[in-house]
Amino acid sequence: MQDKQPSLDYNTENIPKVLPILPLFDSALFPKMVLPLVVMKGESVHLIDEAMANDRMIGLLVAKKQENVRPDPESGDLATVGTAALILKMAKAEDNRIQLLVQGLSRFRVKSFMNGKPYLVAEVEHFSDIDHKDNETEALMANVIKQFGRIVHLSPGLPQEIGSMATSIKEPGTLADMVASTINSTPEEKQHILEIQNSTKRLKAVTKLVQHQLEILELGNKIQSQVKGDMDKRQREYYLRQQLKAIKEELGETDEATVELEEYRAKIKEKNLPEEAVKEAERELGRLARMHPSSAEYTVAMTYLDWLTELPWNESTKDNLDIKKARKVLDEDHFGLEKAKRRIIEYLAVRKLKPDSKGPILCFAGPPGTGKTSLGSSIARALGRKFHRISLGGVRDEAEIRGHRRTYVGALPGRIIQGLRRTGSNNPVFMMDEIDKVGSDFRGDPSSALLEVLDPEQNFSFSDHYLDVSFDLSKVMFITTANVLDTVPSALRDRMEVIQLLGYTEDEKVKIAARYLIPRQREAHGLKAKQVKITTGAVRRIISGYTREAGLRNLEREIATICRGVATGIAEGKIKRATIKVNDVAEYLGPVKLQAEAKVRMTTPGVAMGMAWTPTGGDLLFIEATAMKGKKGLTLTGQLGDVMKESATAALSFIRANAKKLGVDENFFDKHDIHIHVPAGAIPKDGPSAGVTILSRRRCWPPTGPA
Ligand SMILES: Nc1ncnc2c1ncn2[C@@H]1O[C@H](COP(=O)(O)OP(=O)(O)OP(=O)(O)O)[C@@H](O)[C@H]1O
Ligand SMILES: [Mg+2]
Repeated sequence: MQDKQPSLDYNTENIPKVLPILPLFDSALFPKMVLPLVVMKGESVHLIDEAMANDRMIGLLVAKKQENVRPDPESGDLATVGTAALILKMAKAEDNRIQLLVQGLSRFRVKSFMNGKPYLVAEVEHFSDIDHKDNETEALMANVIKQFGRIVHLSPGLPQEIGSMATSIKEPGTLADMVASTINSTPEEKQHILEIQNSTKRLKAVTKLVQHQLEILELGNKIQSQVKGDMDKRQREYYLRQQLKAIKEELGETDEATVELEEYRAKIKEKNLPEEAVKEAERELGRLARMHPSSAEYTVAMTYLDWLTELPWNESTKDNLDIKKARKVLDEDHFGLEKAKRRIIEYLAVRKLKPDSKGPILCFAGPPGTGKTSLGSSIARALGRKFHRISLGGVRDEAEIRGHRRTYVGALPGRIIQGLRRTGSNNPVFMMDEIDKVGSDFRGDPSSALLEVLDPEQNFSFSDHYLDVSFDLSKVMFITTANVLDTVPSALRDRMEVIQLLGYTEDEKVKIAARYLIPRQREAHGLKAKQVKITTGAVRRIISGYTREAGLRNLEREIATICRGVATGIAEGKIKRATIKVNDVAEYLGPVKLQAEAKVRMTTPGVAMGMAWTPTGGDLLFIEATAMKGKKGLTLTGQLGDVMKESATAALSFIRANAKKLGVDENFFDKHDIHIHVPAGAIPKDGPSAGVTILSRRRCWPPTGPA
């Protein structure tokens, strides 16, 4: 900015004492310095026009207020010390802006402002520097020159010659002015320098500014070099990546990663995800864009986005609300089970009246093979919904239900979310099989997660750890199954509507076999209806002689065995068709299994038969007793619990107390030990119900009732 104009006469005598005043808003001009200016306001434009027509002389005063307000000299908005200047160049731009180049001439002090012009005019008094040529001043000059040289060195924006120019200045005041106008300082600081008439004092003030500026530059330089090492590497990588992109585009190979990102964006829009999910997806997309496609995290983020975009947030299947048709489907698949079927029909009826009703949470409880699992899929078919089944048997980890947090390597959502993604609808029939066999250990308690899933008041915002976005499960129809309800935590049991599927009677089994099991097995073995017939008598024989169950699994298995046998016969060409009657059963299934056991055991003296409750629907229980030479001893074996042991002791006391009445020899107990065993020895048994069997007396088959 600094420029010497040797042709100019700085003699203050030649400068007018009355000057038009142009306010300066963001800088200050020093004598002998040159400053470019832009003028746009109407009155200032007027001022310049008149000055150009006259002697080109103007006065510049620093204004404190903002540019759009006309400074009021009365209120102290304007400085009172300024610089008289000569307009060196003027250029008018099209938008009425004027570009000026002004040359500072000398300092002045305002004596008074004058009226009469649209712009400010002031009567001024010019003044020159007061110089002291002493050692202090010289030292100050040398110091300022040195510091200024460093500033120039550290400021890439300044021309390097300006440093040597400073060296050539001999007047202390001019040096101070030049340095002050060149370095980075505020208009106020500049104004302060402008106002100091004593050149030594001015140099001191400039030294302070220079010192401050130098400190800032040096600190900035230090930070810069620290950051640079770090930045360089990243910039290089970015630069190379951009180049790679450009090369790929040139070759017509669009960048896979960007295409992928766009695909996800489109999917998010199309699937109309809930707001929370969109936010999470956008965040992940943002991360993805910054990652390198071959990094491990990239895949992790992509997998997450896949899950998010492929979940059925809004997709649901349309329910079949035709009650007659639903009833037909249910009857087609299962015999009986009235209670469960009626509940489903009721639900359908309610759905018809109130379309947004919540899905019920049912629990089918009963012995194995009574049709719990298969009824579930039949219900889905009847309602026209998708079906998904998960088995909770042996699930011990809460994460299996609720998923792992994404921070884990290989994390996935829990089974609920997995199931929903697979069905692709948010209202499937979701079967949770074997809920009574859920375990719990140090990995957490899955049933606590199930509590949330199975609570209609909570499951509209089920949160999976992996997704981290809540999912609405309230439209899902949950059906759980259990063999026994005792092991289901009571809080969980309380949330479900329990429907008991008790075992079937023999008559029911016969009907189910004829209508469902035999046709199904026949078909499974590729046999035609006329090729195999099983009579009712034969079915009864299978039920009583070969199966001992509340459900139908073994019956179906035995029927399958018969079908296999017949199919083999036909395939070998030995027979064309077979009708299985009572007496033919043994040919296919071997000798009768069950009656034999009871008969054999019961012909032995000292064995009594009772019935036991088991989760599978009950069993026969044998109690064996023997007496041997000894002395009043009683041995109990067969893993009996305390209650059962007490039953045995009580039975013995009863017999001893009533020995005479019962016809037992009085001395019998003195000379004998008694041993009671309950097979099978490996199965723990307990409970008071076996008491009467322990006390009973059987000598031979057939049984004649308790003694
Ligand atoms: N009422 C019924 N009508 C027709 N078939 C039936 C009936 N009940 C059960 N079944 C048949 O019995 C077989 C066993 O049923 P399922 O597997 O559903 O039993 P479950 O109750 O789930 O047993 P578990 O408790 O052992 O899991 C299936 O093939 C099923 O079709
Ligand atoms: Mg089952």
